[in-house]
Amino acid sequence: MRITHSGKAMHTSTKEHWNEIYEALDATELTWYEEIPEPSIRLLSECHINKDEPVLDVGAGASTFIDYLIDQGFSNIIAADLSEIALGKLKVRLGREKASLVRWVVDDITEPVNIQDLRNIALWHDRAVLHFLLEENQRRMYLSVLKKVVKKGGYVIIAAFSLTGAKKCTGLDVRNYDHTMLAEFLGEDFILLDHFDYTDHTPSGVPKPYVYTLFRRKS
Ligand SMILES: C[S@@+](CC[C@H](N)C(=O)[O-])C[C@H]1O[C@@H](n2cnc3c(N)ncnc32)[C@H](O)[C@@H]1O
Repeated sequence: MRITHSGKAMHTSTKEHWNEIYEALDATELTWYEEIPEPSIRLLSECHINKDEPVLDVGAGASTFIDYLIDQGFSNIIAADLSEIALGKLKVRLGREKASLVRWVVDDITEPVNIQDLRNIALWHDRAVLHFLLEENQRRMYLSVLKKVVKKGGYVIIAAFSLTGAKKCTGLDVRNYDHTMLAEFLGEDFILLDHFDYTDHTPSGVPKPYVYTLFRRKS
């Protein structure tokens, strides 16, 4: 809730909420900051994809997973987020040369305009985004976009707060998951290849339990 110039109370939109957070904090101060995104790297190593195939990080924020993909030679990387401030920070960190290797998409996965036009995505990577979608229509839209853009035989990595994990993040409620709930969410077209629990720690040392999952879409 914020107060406008006219003194009226107004709900902060999701976009404003995230933009304000990314404006206020350095990427390394965010509670979800990872110096090295180890669990995502582990699951990526299980995917058989060519480095020129499209890889989409949904809700990429200022994630170091993008740095890793570039450094590994992936040449068709798409970073999507509803916060242009987050993506702007990531661009600055990468520097002009590396940033030019990434396709940048500012979009809301629950009200997509541009993301749904992507096709043949070989890897969909979501760390800590789906769990913010509480409404059924938001989850349905997320799944509909995922099914439109991920190619047959493509991979899906989803990491969410686990059932023992936090119930809120940045003041927003989250929906907690385990691997069976994520498998049920994606449906029969997706085979669960791997999953594990992983406890991340915030920069101040607070444990954050996640569930990490890797799926493959049937060919
Ligand atoms: C907890 S952060 C995780 C960021 C990144 N995946 C990482 O691991 O560092 C959640 C991210 O999801 C983005 N986000 C939240 N809701 C979104 C939505 N509806 N559509 C697209 N991005 C969203 C936020 O802007 C934020 O960057």
